[in-house]
Formats: sequence, structure tokens, C-alpha cells
Amino acid sequence: MEQNELKKLVGEAAVDYIHDGMIVGLGTGSTVKYMVDALGKKVQEEGIKIIGVPTSERTEKQANSLGIITKGVDDVDHIDLTIDGADQIDENFQGIKGGGAAHLWEKIVAINSEKNMWIVDESKMTQQLGSFPLPLEVTPYGSKQLFKRLQKLNYNPEFRMADGHHVLTDSKNYVIDLHMHRINDPFALAAELDSMTGIVEHGLFLDLVNTVIVGRPNGPEILNAR
Ligand code: 5RP
Repeated sequence: MEQNELKKLVGEAAVDYIHDGMIVGLGTGSTVKYMVDALGKKVQEEGIKIIGVPTSERTEKQANSLGIITKGVDDVDHIDLTIDGADQIDENFQGIKGGGAAHLWEKIVAINSEKNMWIVDESKMTQQLGSFPLPLEVTPYGSKQLFKRLQKLNYNPEFRMADGHHVLTDSKNYVIDLHMHRINDPFALAAELDSMTGIVEHGLFLDLVNTVIVGRPNGPEILNAR
């Protein structure tokens, strides 16, 4: 089975967890896109009433085009469940996110959710985080100085660019990817990055996920993290 087929499989499986009346965080990325497609279908065919809380302008646009009502994170009093993708998940259910430059909004929605579910194809499961570059959302002001500090720490930073321009997040910040190859202590690294001025948010999502649906060729595998 191809990677996209596995993404579609888990995207469709996740929708079974969404029921009438729920407020649902909607993640960002190609896997979530399949989930939102399936959710749009469920809303139209079954007439369920849900509110989506999108984690990016992209997801908001897609959801609205399918008739899914959305609200901002500050306009809801709770979020029952957030369903999002991930770039890497280790054996302790710690994750890297931000491959789609949406990790700031994704983390804000995630920490305000009662439950978090990640949907991934099996290639995202790993023993150790770090072979996927760790994204940082950084303020444009001072970003070259921050870049030099990250170089001195041997974190192999790289500005994320597209067509010769900085990739901009929905909050109009830049993205720096850290090519660390191995992250031995995700909690220590998260604490260090949290303390660095100019880093708005990093892509380490630690102790956040409750359920992971992994797309395997023989069907979706449900893993309960906590
Ligand atoms: C966006 C993310 C995505 O969830 C992550 O990059 C996975 O994306 P995809 O489903 O396209 O592989 O964190 O910021």
C-alpha cells in the first residue's frame, strides 16, 4: 500500500471518533486533509452537528468548503478531541510536528483539548526522534542572531525557504528546521528551546497525545498512549 493510501485509511478511521455535538480540533497536513474530507461527508450524510477548531488557515478553508462550521480557539469553551497528524512518534508517544509549519497553532489547540489523537502512516513511527528535522517557529526580528546561536549549539539550523523566500507561518513568523539526526533527551531539549528568546514555539509535542492511529497495510492499528 502506498503512503497516501495509508494516510487516507487513518483519516477515515479517525472520523469514527467524532460524534454529534462535539467540538473537534482539526489539525493540519495531508493526512488530516483526508480526515476533514471524510468528516465533511459525515456531516452532510448523517446531519451531525459539530464545531471544528482549525489549526491553520488551510484547514479552515477546507472545512468550511465542506460545510463544517468552524470557530477560533478563543471562541469555544472546550475542545472534546483534536485529531492531527505528526512527523515522527517515538516508542514513548513523544512526537515531532511542524512539517507543515503549523505547529504553533497546533500546539495551542492541542493543549486546550481534552483528548488528542494523532493519525499517521507507519513510516512516522520511530525508536528515536530526530531523523526528521525539528521545526521552530521564530520571530523574523532577530532571527539571524538566533540562527547563529543555534549554530553554536551544533543544532544544524536551516531557514525553511520556498522560491527564495522565507516560509511564513499563519502568524507571519519564520521557520527554522534543526537537523539534529538524534534527539537523546526530548524533555531537556524542549526546556532549552522554551528558554530561548525569539523561538515562539518548537515542534516537540511531549506527553500530549492520548491515542495514535497508525496506518498499516493490513489495517489501522489503534495505540493508546495514556
Ligand atoms: C503540520 C504538521 C503535520 O501534522 C505533520 O507535518 C504531518 O503532516 P502530513 O500528514 O502531511 O504527513 O505538524 O505542521
